[in-house]
Amino acid sequence: MVKKVYLIGIGPGDPKYLTILAKEVIQRLKVFLVPEKEGKKSDLTKKRLKIIEFIKAKEPFEVVYLPFPERERGVNYKEKVQEWRLRKGEILKKTLLLLKEEEVGFLIWGDPVIYDGHIEIFKEIEKELPIEWEVIPGISAFQVLGAKFKISLTDLATSLTFHTPRTLRKLKEISHPTVVFLDNYATFSLFKEKLLRIYWGAYVGQEEEVYLEGDLKETLETLKELRETLREKKGYLMEIYLLKPKEEKNG
Ligand SMILES: C[S@@+](CC[C@H](N)C(=O)[O-])C[C@H]1O[C@@H](n2cnc3c(N)ncnc32)[C@H](O)[C@@H]1O
Repeated sequence: MVKKVYLIGIGPGDPKYLTILAKEVIQRLKVFLVPEKEGKKSDLTKKRLKIIEFIKAKEPFEVVYLPFPERERGVNYKEKVQEWRLRKGEILKKTLLLLKEEEVGFLIWGDPVIYDGHIEIFKEIEKELPIEWEVIPGISAFQVLGAKFKISLTDLATSLTFHTPRTLRKLKEISHPTVVFLDNYATFSLFKEKLLRIYWGAYVGQEEEVYLEGDLKETLETLKELRETLREKKGYLMEIYLLKPKEEKNG
């Protein structure tokens, strides 16, 4: 049985964004757990494999694919997420019990502490299995987004908030920098009448990265078209954006 799992933040999809710590841990380990994405998103599994191959070069390693189900959509969002996490936890537990290697790595996109459920899953697993686990932080997509646009996300000591469409939709105003993850619905459109600037990126930090910046109202239609073109071309869209209030010019 596995005795220790490293939850390794791998950054936004390109090995150049791995930390030295992540690299050292990947170099040391021989077995890696990788969620198996099917269909168009199999590209994301390939990107994880490329990272291991890049670091391990010619050394042998084993990849154990985790057949995680897709999350079911439904009215009761929190309940559905909870069910999904339980099912993933069961698959992980079975896998950890079967493996002979003492230490394994579990590659997590970006940073495991940002919009990722595996920390919660491992908190449940450790109640049932005598297992140790450690989190290795990674560079998150929002950091790369800020760096590419050469902007401070926090300006002059302002607040920075993170949203997903579910919580963004409930806002009436955006009064400070707001980063939006996991938006498949162009939720920024709801704020088109507000004085906002949008800094948008797709596949950030990867070879195929695309960026767009502008006043939200003026950029909206171009951005919607660009999103559809990219989605069609690649089969899936991985996007993140920042909405920043524009200072009103008085006179
Ligand atoms: C489940 S969350 C995982 C976030 C991840 N833990 C992180 O720190 O970036 C997935 C969302 O992160 C954002 N994301 C992650 N990597 C990205 C990338 N390379 N380009 C654009 N968005 C990305 C997208 O909003 C995507 O829907």
